[in-house]
Amino acid sequence: MVTRIQPAVSDPDAARSLVGLLRQLPDSEPMPPAVDSAQLLDALAQAGGGTGADLPEVVLVHELIGPQPALELIREVALRFPAVGVVLITRDTSPPLYSAAMDAGARGVLGLPLSYDELAARVGAAASWAAGVRRHLGGGGEEPAGPGGTVVAVTGAKGGVGTTLTAVQLALAAQASGRGSALVDMDLQSGDVASYLDVQFRRSVADLAGIEDISARVLQDAVYTHESGLGLLLAPGEGERGEDVDDRASRQIVAALRARAPSSTPPTPPPSRRPTSPCCSPRPTSWPSARRNAWCACGTGCRSARPRRPSPSSTAPPE
Ligand SMILES: Nc1ncnc2c1ncn2[C@@H]1O[C@H](COP(=O)(O)OP(=O)(O)O)[C@@H](O)[C@H]1O
Ligand SMILES: [Mg+2]
Repeated sequence: MVTRIQPAVSDPDAARSLVGLLRQLPDSEPMPPAVDSAQLLDALAQAGGGTGADLPEVVLVHELIGPQPALELIREVALRFPAVGVVLITRDTSPPLYSAAMDAGARGVLGLPLSYDELAARVGAAASWAAGVRRHLGGGGEEPAGPGGTVVAVTGAKGGVGTTLTAVQLALAAQASGRGSALVDMDLQSGDVASYLDVQFRRSVADLAGIEDISARVLQDAVYTHESGLGLLLAPGEGERGEDVDDRASRQIVAALRARAPSSTPPTPPPSRRPTSPCCSPRPTSWPSARRNAWCACGTGCRSARPRRPSPSSTAPPE
């Protein structure tokens, strides 16, 4: 589900930096900032007319918005548009201010200077809350389509600690449990998931870097389907291509995989076709059924210099 975010901030510099960060959030649609409280209320009133389906899920109110003071504005938005999650952006993150914001009806407080992680967490929480309220108010209407997959990150603080082996086994086990899964090798300099699974495939995660809108087709071309049914998004063969995959690209790639999980997961083949590579257990351990569509990633911190093992019996089709 795309989260619509309405910022309300008067200062042009603060607006620029906020919108710049918002644009990096996956599955988000930042709207042009409202520059004062009246403009915000007008915009919400307009979007809230009819079914209210056009209302943004999240409103971010900067502490220096005017002419209405920020907390008063939050109170009014919370009362008039209860299905909107309001977050206060403020320099003062003291407990009294936090309590005052909550009393006014805010769903969260974001400290200045802004950090991406904090922004993502607060926006995510407010959006989930707004979606829950809308479901409730909608009287059991249609569930909004959300990302289809769960992300499981497997990271290692250094090379050789078993990160890849763990990620491979978890992904195989998830796939064998009947839940379609994909394994992304984010060890961009020396990823060796391909050699663990005895696969040769020219395309890699680096081919998706720089693509703004990763469509199902583009994703399908980059993902190799292992004989177990597991989707593989491999690390680039040449380490230097890994530099193309920056933070933003990583987030977009994982978001694209999650969003397309149901349609991009091939069925599980019969047990006889499960992998028998010496590095992979032919009978993967079971995976709790509650964990659906587990997407595993190897640690970006892993810098194992171990050479790739040759893959003489590659199963990859020629490209
Ligand atoms: N639990 C384990 N027991 C024995 N050997 C292991 C275990 N986990 C990993 N290994 C071996 O240790 C080596 C490094 O594992 P690997 O998963 O490639 O580490 P990393 O990805 O952290 O560099 C491999 O040869 C692997 O087979
Ligand atoms: Mg590794």
